[in-house]
Amino acid sequence: MISFEEIPEMDAELEKVNKHIERLCKSNSESMQKMMDWVLNARGKQIRPIMTLLCSKLKGKKVDATEVAAIIEMCHTASLIHDDVIDRADQRRGQLSVYKKFGPAMAVYAGDFMIFATLGRTNLRLKPWYRDMFAKLEIMSDGEVRQFDNQFNTNITEEMCIENIIGKTSAMFSIACGAGAYEGRCTRREKAAVEKFAEYFGLLFQLRDDLMDFIATDEESKKTIHNDFWTGYYTLPAIHTFNHPDYGEELKKIAVDLKNGVHEDGIDDRITELIRKAGGFVYSRDLIESYRDKAIECLDIFQESVAKSKLIELMDMLWDSVNALPLC
Ligand code: IPE
Ligand code: IPE
Ligand code: MG
Ligand code: MG
Repeated sequence: MISFEEIPEMDAELEKVNKHIERLCKSNSESMQKMMDWVLNARGKQIRPIMTLLCSKLKGKKVDATEVAAIIEMCHTASLIHDDVIDRADQRRGQLSVYKKFGPAMAVYAGDFMIFATLGRTNLRLKPWYRDMFAKLEIMSDGEVRQFDNQFNTNITEEMCIENIIGKTSAMFSIACGAGAYEGRCTRREKAAVEKFAEYFGLLFQLRDDLMDFIATDEESKKTIHNDFWTGYYTLPAIHTFNHPDYGEELKKIAVDLKNGVHEDGIDDRITELIRKAGGFVYSRDLIESYRDKAIECLDIFQESVAKSKLIELMDMLWDSVNALPLC
């Protein structure tokens, strides 16, 4: 993760975010508390709260956006707890997922609890962005449902894939950045610019995550990998390859075989080989680069500041990690 040396208050603010999360996630039920303890034991990268805090600093105002950051991180975490049930993923944040550790029913309850705690236990309900947040969470759910509707659809188009990401991933970043910008006294125009930045950031983030699912090791990823293709979620490198004149048919056949539970040893290697030969990974990388450039442009509206440069540094940390992958 990047260093926040130049923003002396940042570490203390992030600690405060986590104190809010612990307070908001207290349960009277022993079983629920056990699950909350498990979840909060592994924090994740906390990119969304970091972005909320940074966006709250873009105009140089001294504001406390820690509770805002906390509830957004809780909504995100709840969505991951549910996501692991849907994706049947065993690993999350370097440990067993709630789904694997406590079972699917308990994981649904745990995710529900986090959302209900977020809804009911803060004093942020009267903020103008609060309604907007739920409107965007609805967009996130729609994106997830659209993706699910297209499970095992080898004819899914690139446009559909991008549209799904804008829903399932960008919406949450847009909430995180937009709420931070509002708290930091940004104008409507500036808030809109930050939200557009977040949309591109989300695209870069998810396309990178999708690349990692094919290429990263378990250790790098800290969550279940090689999962998307097997479970019928065809991400951009696969979609690009499906449409390739030389490699498309074979990859489609593997997709159908996996759907029917048929596969040979070493099939993961063959999948990555086909995608690599079809240029699917490089294609994703080039698109990621174009989103990075567009995201940076969105921030032109702001004067130079440490907060602005840290937002760009955060994005470039992700971009650099894409370039370090063996894509071709
Ligand atoms: C995972 O998000 C979900 C995606 C949008 C790919 P993160 O990679 O930010 O997960 P944590 O919060 O660090 O665990
Ligand atoms: C995560 O999506 C859920 C949301 C973005 C809401 P994925 O299923 O693609 O992400 P990981 O790989 O499990 O984190
Ligand atoms: Mg998943
Ligand atoms: Mg998923």
